[in-house]
Amino acid sequence: MRIFSGIQPTGRKHLGNYIGAIVQYVSSQDRGEGFFCIVDLHAITVAYDPAELRQRTYDTTAILLAAGLDPARCTLFRQSDVPQHTGLTWLLSSVTELGRLQRMHQFRDKSLAQRELVPAALLLYPVLQAADVLAYRAHEVPVGEDQREHLELMRDVARRFNARFGDGEDVLVVPEHRIPQVGARVMDLQDPTRKMSTTGGSEQGTVYVLDEPKAIEKKLKSAVTDSGSEVRRASDKPGVSNLIEILAAVRGSDPAAVEAELAQARYGELKAAVATAVVDYLAPVRERYERLRADEDALEQILSDGAVRAETIAAETLADVRERMGVGGPRRARTVT
Ligand code: TRP
Repeated sequence: MRIFSGIQPTGRKHLGNYIGAIVQYVSSQDRGEGFFCIVDLHAITVAYDPAELRQRTYDTTAILLAAGLDPARCTLFRQSDVPQHTGLTWLLSSVTELGRLQRMHQFRDKSLAQRELVPAALLLYPVLQAADVLAYRAHEVPVGEDQREHLELMRDVARRFNARFGDGEDVLVVPEHRIPQVGARVMDLQDPTRKMSTTGGSEQGTVYVLDEPKAIEKKLKSAVTDSGSEVRRASDKPGVSNLIEILAAVRGSDPAAVEAELAQARYGELKAAVATAVVDYLAPVRERYERLRADEDALEQILSDGAVRAETIAAETLADVRERMGVGGPRRARTVT
């Protein structure tokens, strides 16, 4: 089974990203053939600083490696190093409905937020995302609930391509969405009714993977709790529920077990326990990160090795797609030369 996920290049990955997405990438290395792509071409669809982009790509690479992605067991690469992603985007745009792209929530939200230019790339963002996954004929895509619309679009694009050009064959694989169970629920510590988020959340309510232990402690100790004093999960106790679930996630245990253990505890004790657990959980990741991040040549080497492996597979898919679409010369002639 092949697993593909894309991750935005940023050093500001938070605890929700970490236990929701990144930990899932790491464990998927045991279940299948993982492809993890740092999507620098998606990053240029909004205002960005060219001098920063490469640095943020290294940040993300180092975080993923520090978390436990192993380049010997998966393919970790940078999107722009594999030209088939953009090549396939154009070909797939011919089986993508324009109106559908214009109606995508993310396109609407982001285009409203742009102060100056709304780039065409923002509209094509989901087609590039479809190309990312379909180029590898991946079966499974571990990403959050917020990517549902993008996943549905890529599934439809694959189906439409197969129906139009497949001649009865499934040339492209229709991938499945795999939504993480845990990270999806990590809430902002200051406003536990909304998800922890780099863009919409509060700075104090967001724990970053690379935060110093002191900062993590401070954020958790000032987490908002609820009325009452009992440590248990309840719909009218979003703050306490969030802390219980975070503690369970970083311990790798069950929220019910945490509740049972802390049934007699006060809110302050719960916060202290979560603070210690999260600090202990992230400290080794941050240490490994610092070491890995210091050697940009080594990171570059890992990414370029990954790109070579990725390209072998993506080139094969692209050749099939071109052949089916009647684009370019016949396939045999191309592979011989
Ligand atoms: N759009 C995704 C996000 O913002 C990132 C992404 C790009 C992606 N290409 C992908 C995710 C392919 C899964 C598969 O999180």
